[in-house]
Amino acid sequence: MCGIVGYIGKADAPSVLINGLRRLEYRGYDSAGVAVLDDGHIVVAKAPGKVSSLSDRARADWPAERFARVTMGIAHTRWATHGPPTEVNAHPHLDQSGDIALVHNGIIENYRSLRARLESKGHHFYSETDTEVLAHLIGDSDKGNLFQAVCDALHQVEGTFGIAVLSAREPEKIITARRGSPIVIGVGEGETIIASDASAILAHTQRVIYLDDNDIAIVTADSVDIRDLHNIPVTREIAELGLDAAAAEKGGYAHFMLKEIHEQPDSLANAIRGRLDFNLGAAVLSGMGTSPRELAELDRVVLIGCGTSLHAGLVGEYAFEDLADVHSEVQQAAEFRYRNPILGSRDLVVAISQSGETADTLAAVREAQQKGAFVMSLCNVVGSTIARQTGRGVYLHAGPEISVASTKAFTCQVAVLLMMALKLGRGRRFSRQDGIQFAREIERIPELVAEVIQQNDHISKIAEAYAHNEHAFFIGRGPMFPVALEGALKLKEISYIHAEGYHAAELKHGPIALLVEGTPVIAIACDIPGKDKTLGNIEECRARGARILGLITEGDDEAAAHMSDFISIPRCHPLVATIPASVALQLLAYHISRIRGCEIDQPRNLAKSVTVE
Ligand code: G6P
Repeated sequence: MCGIVGYIGKADAPSVLINGLRRLEYRGYDSAGVAVLDDGHIVVAKAPGKVSSLSDRARADWPAERFARVTMGIAHTRWATHGPPTEVNAHPHLDQSGDIALVHNGIIENYRSLRARLESKGHHFYSETDTEVLAHLIGDSDKGNLFQAVCDALHQVEGTFGIAVLSAREPEKIITARRGSPIVIGVGEGETIIASDASAILAHTQRVIYLDDNDIAIVTADSVDIRDLHNIPVTREIAELGLDAAAAEKGGYAHFMLKEIHEQPDSLANAIRGRLDFNLGAAVLSGMGTSPRELAELDRVVLIGCGTSLHAGLVGEYAFEDLADVHSEVQQAAEFRYRNPILGSRDLVVAISQSGETADTLAAVREAQQKGAFVMSLCNVVGSTIARQTGRGVYLHAGPEISVASTKAFTCQVAVLLMMALKLGRGRRFSRQDGIQFAREIERIPELVAEVIQQNDHISKIAEAYAHNEHAFFIGRGPMFPVALEGALKLKEISYIHAEGYHAAELKHGPIALLVEGTPVIAIACDIPGKDKTLGNIEECRARGARILGLITEGDDEAAAHMSDFISIPRCHPLVATIPASVALQLLAYHISRIRGCEIDQPRNLAKSVTVE
C-alpha cells in the first residue's frame, strides 16, 4: 500500500528518494511524487503510474544541478483511497502557503469536517484527498514552530497516519509521526532516512528506530529527537535490521515471485531450524512465552488473519484439532474485531500476518487483548507493529517477501502452525513417540518442497493448457480444502482469471452449474483420508466436460487415471502435504500469469500490506 520515504543529509537527495520509492514499489501503488527543498523553496514532482514515470518527470522538469545540490526531501507512493490515482491527488500535498509539504499513509476519517472548516477560513483545495486537508491544517496551525504545528494538527485528526513533513521556513529538519501506520527511521552516518518500511532504508544503514503510535520525531541529518504528541520526550531503542540488501533483489529470476517460490526449501529450513526437539518429540517455540500448564489448560485456539494468512490459519485449524485435540477456529480479522468476540483467559488468539502491519489484524489483536485472551503473533517482518503489539509469538524467518502474492511466507506460516500444534499436542494427547514421528515429518518439509520445485518445467507445460480460460475451480477436502482456497486466490491475484476454491463436496451444491466443456477444475486429490470421495467428485465434474488437473500423491496410478493432467506430490503426512501441494499451485499460478503476460509481482489494484480497514 502507500509508501513513505524521507531523506535528510547528503547531496543528490532526489535520487535517494526515488530509489527509496523503488524499494517500496512491491507494496502496490498507483501514483508517486516527491518534494524537495531547494534554495529555500519547496519543489514538487508527481506522476500517475509507476515510479519510473515520476523519475522521468523529475529529470525532465528539474535541472541536473537541483539533483546534485539538494540534500533533503520527502517522497511517496500512493494507493488510491480518496480520489482516483491522478497527478493532482498524488502526494506530497502542500499547505495553503505552499511552504509546507506532507506525505501521508493512512486515512484521516474526519477530513470532511476539517476541510469545511478550513474552506470557511479561505483555504482552497486542489485534490480530493484527505491528506491535502492535513497539510492545510498543519499550515493553519503553524505559528512559527513546525513541530508544534504538526502536534496541534494531529490532535485534531481522527484516523490513522504515518507522515513526513517538510517546511521551507524550517529547512534543517523533517517532522515525522505515526498512529496506526508504521514509520521506521534509519540512522546513518551524516544522513537520516525515514520510511514506512525498512526495505527503503537497507541501502543506507542497518541501524533503525521504530516509532510507536503517537510518537512524533524531529529528524535532522545527525539527530532524531522523539516525543509524544504532548511534547514529552520518549526513548526508543536503536535496533539492528539484520537484513541483507541482496535479499531484496531478484537475483537472476524473471520475477520476485519466482525467486520466492524457489527460495522455499531454504526459507522453510530457516523457519524450522532449531525448533524441533527429537528427544522429547516436541517443538521449541520459546517466543510463545507460555508454560506447559497454560497450554494444557487452553480451551480454544482462535486464528485470525486476512488474505493468504487467513488461509494459513485454516490449515492450522485442522492441525490444532488433529494433533492437539483442542477446539480451534479461524476468523477473518475484520469480522473478528467488529463482532464482539467471546474470549477468555483460556483462549489462545494467534494473529497471522506476513507484514505485521495489516490494519484489521492489528485491530483484532487489540480487541483480543482487551478481552483478556492469550494473544500472540506469527509474523514475518521483525519489529513490525503486530509483533510488537503482541510481544510474544513466533517469527517466520522467511526473509523479505517482495512479490505482492504471498508464497514463501504462506508455507512458513503453515510450517510454524504445524510446530505450534505439535507443541500443544505434546502437552495434551500426543505421546512422545507420536511427537517424534510428526517432528520427523516436519523436518522433511524443505526436501518435499524441493521435489515439487523440480517439476517446474512440467508445471510450466501444463499451464499452457489452462492459461486461456476465464474461469477455474479448485477443490479439496480436509486440510486440502484451504489449500484449494489459497490456490484459487493465487491464480486470481496474478492472472486475473476468475478462480474459486470450494470444498470438493460443495461443488454440486451450486457451482457445478457453471461447468461447461473444458472448464478447468484443479482437484487436490492426494492420498489422504477422503481421497476416494474427492475422486467421486472429480467424476461428477468430468461428466460435465470439465478438464481436470489433479494434484496426486506420487505413484498413485489409480488417482492419475481420473485426470486430464496431473502434478505429483511426494507421499507424506496429510497436514505436511499441504505445503508441497501449495507450492505446486503457486508454480501453476505463476506460469499461467506469465503466459497471459500479466504483471506478476505487482498485480493491478493489489497492495502487499493493507494498512487501511
Ligand atoms: C494483502 C496481500 C496478501 C496478504 C494480505 C494479508 O492483501 O496482498 O498477500 O495475504 O494482505 O497480509 P499480512 O501481511 O497480514 O499477511
